[in-house]
Amino acid sequence: MKLKKKILIVFGTRPEAIKMAPLVKAFENYQSDFDTKVCVTAQHREMLDQVLDIFEIHPAYDLDLMKKNQDLYDVTSNILLSFKEVLDDFSPDLVLVHGDTTTTFSVSLSCYYKKIAVGHVEAGLRTGNIYSPWPEEVNRKLTGVIANYHFAPTEKSKENLLKENVHSDQIVVTGNTVVDALFLALNKIEQNNSLKQRLALETETVLPNVNLEKDKIVLITGHRRENFGEGFRNICAAIKELANKFKETTFVYPVHLNPNVKGPVNELLTGISNVRLIAPLGYLSFIHLMSKSYLILTDSGGIQEEAPSLGKPVLVMRDTTERPEAVTAGTVKLVGTDKNLIISEVSKLIEDSAYHEQMSEAVNPYGDGKACKRIIAHLKRDK
Ligand code: UD1
Ligand code: UDP
Repeated sequence: MKLKKKILIVFGTRPEAIKMAPLVKAFENYQSDFDTKVCVTAQHREMLDQVLDIFEIHPAYDLDLMKKNQDLYDVTSNILLSFKEVLDDFSPDLVLVHGDTTTTFSVSLSCYYKKIAVGHVEAGLRTGNIYSPWPEEVNRKLTGVIANYHFAPTEKSKENLLKENVHSDQIVVTGNTVVDALFLALNKIEQNNSLKQRLALETETVLPNVNLEKDKIVLITGHRRENFGEGFRNICAAIKELANKFKETTFVYPVHLNPNVKGPVNELLTGISNVRLIAPLGYLSFIHLMSKSYLILTDSGGIQEEAPSLGKPVLVMRDTTERPEAVTAGTVKLVGTDKNLIISEVSKLIEDSAYHEQMSEAVNPYGDGKACKRIIAHLKRDK
């Protein structure tokens, strides 16, 4: 009897979990072809567990590595050492990692030291600036150096890899699994009335006196390391001024649990009646809130990819983006962390409905919801 290929799917943070969840679920339909297990580094804890719960994923290995206020040295070295033991225990033929986190890079390095093949999901995104996003640009590039399979979400990301001399046979353009996750979540909500009611109730509980159907909501998220310090102070100053200028608008900010984010955001934005600082939301609640928002102000990578599908304008508080497709499509605009630019661009979207409409066209430059199928089909062919 032919042995099944052993595949280990590894992730550690909220966005990786969201984008790998549909792949974990898709592999459940191919148990006769592959022996698949999940390992979480738990670089994130609470924010990771929220996703594991929603998608009902039960990891075979949980390294439980998160420490409060960890730095890049902690995360890199702890994962490298702990993951070695998982490789020894499971001896996978292939390890699948996602994107650009330190989990992604450290796990890939750990595989390289044991000459175990790596498949990189969401490969090939580049800004060309190793300090923006930091350290993600380098995490993604170095993972690309190690990977045997490059699952590129778009033609543009494939081109980036070809320019770095990755062989075209090793690259498969799949679309981004974030769209698979989004469709999975939207379907889950659509098909289940009691879930719909639960989400509405949850939103009412965390956002009392906010009417999602009637109120104008500006949804905010921010967490990038390169924005710590001055960047975050500018962002908060801009939100404060905007909240004062547009008293009828509600600014909802689910605050990331990183103390370098929570600290300044709570200090600078607490006590403003139309700014609601809330804990990170479960993925389904967040998607629901995103779908009810007027615009999104964020420095997140994943949200830049989800919002265009929902037809929501996004202002990105970064100087560069490795996701230029939605900028080209006109639904995403870079505003950096310049206080005045954030204020003027948000104001323009609130005041100029024609401009808002123009940026609200739903586009799907990142995929069609079939990325996971393409990844598995390729691995099946390549067995
Ligand atoms: C990490 C990733 C970043 C990704 C982001 C998504 C790296 C270096 N950074 O950044 O690429 O965009 O996740 O959110 O890989 N914390 C908690 N509970 C949680 C999660 C975080 O308390 O569930 C706090 C802890 O104090 C932790 C700190 O946040 O030490 C930082 O977490 P870390 O994963 O190192 O960095 P992020 O800023 O979350
Ligand atoms: N998200 C969530 N709850 C929140 C905020 C965001 O579930 O309160 C989801 C969001 O829909 C997206 C992902 O988390 O899929 C983005 O994660 P994050 O911004 O932390 O990381 P990035 O994408 O920048 O790496």
